[in-house]
Order: sequence, then structure tokens, then C-alpha cells
Amino acid sequence: MLTRRCVALALCAAASALAAPAARAQEPFRIGLILPMTGPNSATGRHIDAAVKLYMSQNGDTVAGRKIEVIVKDDTGAADLTKRLAQELVVNDKANAIAGFGLTPLALAAAPVATQAKIPMLVLAAGTAIITEQSPFIVRTSFTLPQYTVPFAEWIAKQGSRTVVTLVSDYAPGLDSAKAFKETFEKAGGKVLDELRAPLRSPDFSPFLQKARDLKPDALFIFVPNGQGAQMMKQAAERELEKAGIKIYATGDVTDDDSLNEMGDGVLGMITAHHYSAAHKSPENEAFVKAFKAQAKFRPSFMAVGGYDGMRLIYEALKKTNGASDGAALVEAMKGMSWTSPRGPISIDPRTRDIVQNVYIRKIERGADGELYNMEFETIPNVKDPVKEAKK
Ligand code: DHB
Repeated sequence: MLTRRCVALALCAAASALAAPAARAQEPFRIGLILPMTGPNSATGRHIDAAVKLYMSQNGDTVAGRKIEVIVKDDTGAADLTKRLAQELVVNDKANAIAGFGLTPLALAAAPVATQAKIPMLVLAAGTAIITEQSPFIVRTSFTLPQYTVPFAEWIAKQGSRTVVTLVSDYAPGLDSAKAFKETFEKAGGKVLDELRAPLRSPDFSPFLQKARDLKPDALFIFVPNGQGAQMMKQAAERELEKAGIKIYATGDVTDDDSLNEMGDGVLGMITAHHYSAAHKSPENEAFVKAFKAQAKFRPSFMAVGGYDGMRLIYEALKKTNGASDGAALVEAMKGMSWTSPRGPISIDPRTRDIVQNVYIRKIERGADGELYNMEFETIPNVKDPVKEAKK
């Protein structure tokens, strides 16, 4: 009897010894990472996923005593799926934060879920200005379209172009960009002759490029999301716009580091504006590109940098809260944070929770390694989203 009790006690003691550390240890901090991993925007998912993995392999998977668990979900670029996945991550997986959002409609679909769950929502990719206004829990590490369109329109006006036609994808970030371009360029004394919009899905740019050619502007300004640039530039070359005396300017989304090498020598010399180039000259970027290429086996695009900085923001916020996962406290901790990213100095505007960053004017050149790069030659420092600045 005694022996049996001892055995039972011993088992109890052993069981409680096993249970005790588990009970004392903190729950993991779970990040639901919703990305287009398949479908037309899969490059966005591939780059962000690789950057998140790189950040964790460099910085460990434990922060302030909390183990970081990333749960990746593929929304294929479909907004209804993004919303359902966000809800499932909150309810079933007990996510402490959601992150990702490869396109504006996907970010807009998830915003109410973050508000209801009161957890941080890190926008690592989408770029329409109003996104951060859709929930007090949204913080963005990507960019806004007006952020680089406004300084670029000013720069283009200074080069002497007087007339421009804009050609953008027909959805929110494209409309943001076209509007910012027209307002800025016309304030500088130029004229936008027409604002062309190509469908987002399965676009054929030829009729729009032909229309632009017929209007005979000094320059054409283009925005399409990353992944569509190679087709755009191929069709632009077929229309021989440059031969007709029309300069082509584009946002860096068109000539992103993922697809630039597919575009061939025809794009050499083309000028774009953006916040990141794999050729950005800084020790931070050189280390980032080297480590990224070693781990992912491809060079990082601006999408990768948005993901990398998003992870850093979560890690640093968790350190500030001492591992506490209260959503409002984490968002408070993120406000005003600043550091040197691979893209240059960045900060989170405490008023808008949007990113403040340099914008670079770049020219496509062949690098020493034989690959094509966007070579930065002019910097507009610390640019805030102009749309929200105008609302102050
Ligand atoms: C958006 C998506 C992109 O891939 C891009 O390059 C710019 C903006 C967006 O949907 O917000």
C-alpha cells in the first residue's frame, strides 16, 4: 500500500515537475503572416517570407522570454480569403499580431479584424495612403504611393518636361499615384494631358501605350504593381515610345529587383523613384543583401525589405513591453521607433503609424556582377506620406 502510494506520489511529483516549467513559461507570441504565396503576386509573398526567415535566423526566435511563432497563410491575392484567414488566425491560432498584405484590397479586408481583436496589424507590402487610417492597430513598414510619386513629379518637372501622360493600374494605389502626380506636376507648371488606367488583372498595356504615343507628351509616367513591370516594359519597347521622343519614367514598383533582370538592355538608362534598391550603398544594405542571397538564393526586392523591417518592429516592440502582448501597448511601443534599415534611415511616424523614409531617384545600369540594378543618384530625405501631411 505504502509502496503504491509512493509510486503514485512520485508520479504526481514527476508530473507536476514536468508541468511546472510549462505553466510558468510564457505562451509563444504568434504572428499570423498572410501573403500571396501563389497566384500573380507570389513574388511579394516569396520575398517577404524569405526576409522574415532571414530576420529570425539572424536574431533568434525568442524575444523578452517569448518564443516567436510565425504562421504563414497563403491568401493567393484574394481579399475574401485574406479576411477569413485573418479571422481564423485570431480565433483558432490565437495570433497576437497579423502581418503581410500583398495588395491594398487585402489590407483593407483585414483591417476590421485587427480592430476587433485589438492586435497589431503590420502592413509589410500594400501602399495606398489611406490604409493606416482603417484601424488604430495598423502600422506600416512598406511605403505609400504618394510618398515617392510627389518628389518624383517635382524632379521630373525640374528636368524640363512640360507635358506628361500618366498610365497606372486601375485600383487604389494606381489612383493614389496618378492623383499625386497630376497635383504636384501641375503645381510645378506642367500639364498632365491624360490619365490612363489599365486593368489590374491580366492587363494588356499595348492600347494604353499606343494612346500615350498618339498624345505626344514629353514624358510618360507609369505605375504598375511589382510583377507586371517586365510585360509593361516589353510592350513599351514594341511601341517605340522613346524613338517618338517620349521619355519613360516609372515608380520603382515597375523595375523591382525581382524582375529587373528579365527586362533586358532596353531599360538601361531608365529613371525611376523608390525607397529601396538592392544596390543601395550602405554597410547595412551590403550585409543584408549578402545574407539574403546566401539564405534565399535570390536578391532582395523592396518587398523583402518591408518584411525584414516589419519583423524588427515586432521584436523591438516586444522588448519594450517586456514580452507583454497587449495590442494597444505594442502599437504604442512601435510609434516613433527609428533605425537604420537596409533601405536607409527610417522611422514610424507616431501620429500616423506610417513609415517615414528616404526616396531615391535611380537610373538602371549594369552592375559589376553583370546584373541590372537601379542605381541611386539623388536622395530626398525623410519623406512622410504627403496625403496624411496635407490632412494635418
Ligand atoms: C501595391 C502592391 C504592389 O505590389 C506594389 O508594388 C505597390 C502597391 C498595393 O496593392 O498597394
